[in-house]
Amino acid sequence: MKTFFVETWGCQMNQHDSELIEGQLRLHGLAPVTTAEDADLVVLNTCSVRDKPVQKIISRIGFLAKQKPETIIGVCGCVAEQEAGALLDRSASVGFVLGPGQTARIGEAVRAVEQGKRPVLTGFDAEAEYNFHTIFRKSTTRGMVTVIEGCNEFCTFCIVPYTRGREVSRPLGAVLAEVRSIAADGIKEVELLGQTINAYRCPETGATLARLLEAVASVDGLLRVRFITSHPRHFGQDLIDVLAENRNVFRYLHLPIQSGSDAILRKMHRKYTRDEYLALVDRIRAATPKINLSTDVIVGFPGESDADFDDTMRVLTQVRFGQVYAFGYSPRPKTPAARYRPEISEEVKTSRLQRLFSVSNRISLELNQELVGEVAQVLIDGESRRNPEHWQGRGEDNRVVNFPKSGREDVGDVVEVEIQRAGPHSLSGEIIAGAVRLPIVSAG
Ligand code: SAM
Ligand code: SF4
Ligand code: F3S
Repeated sequence: MKTFFVETWGCQMNQHDSELIEGQLRLHGLAPVTTAEDADLVVLNTCSVRDKPVQKIISRIGFLAKQKPETIIGVCGCVAEQEAGALLDRSASVGFVLGPGQTARIGEAVRAVEQGKRPVLTGFDAEAEYNFHTIFRKSTTRGMVTVIEGCNEFCTFCIVPYTRGREVSRPLGAVLAEVRSIAADGIKEVELLGQTINAYRCPETGATLARLLEAVASVDGLLRVRFITSHPRHFGQDLIDVLAENRNVFRYLHLPIQSGSDAILRKMHRKYTRDEYLALVDRIRAATPKINLSTDVIVGFPGESDADFDDTMRVLTQVRFGQVYAFGYSPRPKTPAARYRPEISEEVKTSRLQRLFSVSNRISLELNQELVGEVAQVLIDGESRRNPEHWQGRGEDNRVVNFPKSGREDVGDVVEVEIQRAGPHSLSGEIIAGAVRLPIVSAG
């Protein structure tokens, strides 16, 4: 095997794992190519959070195997953990299967395939090796850093605890060493990753996420820090204070609610009520009034009545999220909710989702329109995909901002942009001062 191509589905954790996969494959002497057709090895880094992505991956395996049977397909990620050896039966082209806890062993799997074996490596080793120096980072402006693996919550609808294993926090010192290293390479923004990131506890000192954020935000050369995903039941006052006080921490928070009905939240095993969630939002907003909040919602969980759904809609209009990511409920193998009844029909899910999006898009647009005339500090990520004469970047509240190039700034610079127009999912404007670097300070 000489060449490889990686296809990634799913969340930021998978995107980051794909960087680890690419780094390992390069280390083992394989060269990247730009299309699956040209690759000796196609790695599918998969997601099983809902049935649709799983079906897409299964048909992708069939397509690749038919198109060029000599290509080796390596299945990684959450479907690999879930299906394990059964994936080898899908096609003779599947050369290896590697769960998320085994990603770092991809080089070993490739060697085994070259010796005629078809390894299946799943499960989670307590002492799994993690060498951040081998990660191949795609972005030159933004770096992802894992702080906590796995999940202990076992929400009744969710497959993640089965595919990603139990929570394991990395020592604060190890996270800091990684952040310092990528900041020294010129990365301006760090995104800290974990499925329940605010459950983070340093295994050596007991430090919380708030302390970790403070430490990371003061690393030399780093401009901004964000973190994803927070669970409402682990949100402490220390985290609220850091969001409010440390100007290098994003004014953005993803705080999944899943449902606005207490009966459904109980059946989901989310361990908070609607009022507790709303009270938390009030406390966060009292400390940081301009914070941009986003959320996840599941529509059509078993037994969700019209009244339950109306409760969710009421919360959305009450909180006014900058962005709502909503999904129709999809039963997942092994999860308790897969046995819950009554199931909600696909038609009802679709019509509820349409109602939800028409309201949430209107709110997103209204919130964005309120920003017209304001000045955003935008970190330039790259050229706009729609217009090569424009840059695209993100403000400190995570909103996407597009603006014409002036010729004086480049990728990785922070510029001040006056917002002139607003859509539901992005803003646009004009640079008012070129290449401004934000000072590294704690407002205190
Ligand atoms: N850890 C995060 C949390 O606590 O909310 C989210 C993890 S999950 C990878 C991302 C989102 O997928 C969830 O917030 C949920 O809305 C959605 N999701 C998870 N399981 C689902 C299912 N069985 N059907 C539909 N959506 C699901
Ligand atoms: Fe899934 Fe719940 Fe864990 Fe999030 S907190 S990953 S939704 S089990
Ligand atoms: Fe999907 Fe696994 Fe992430 S199921 S959403 S890739 S943790």
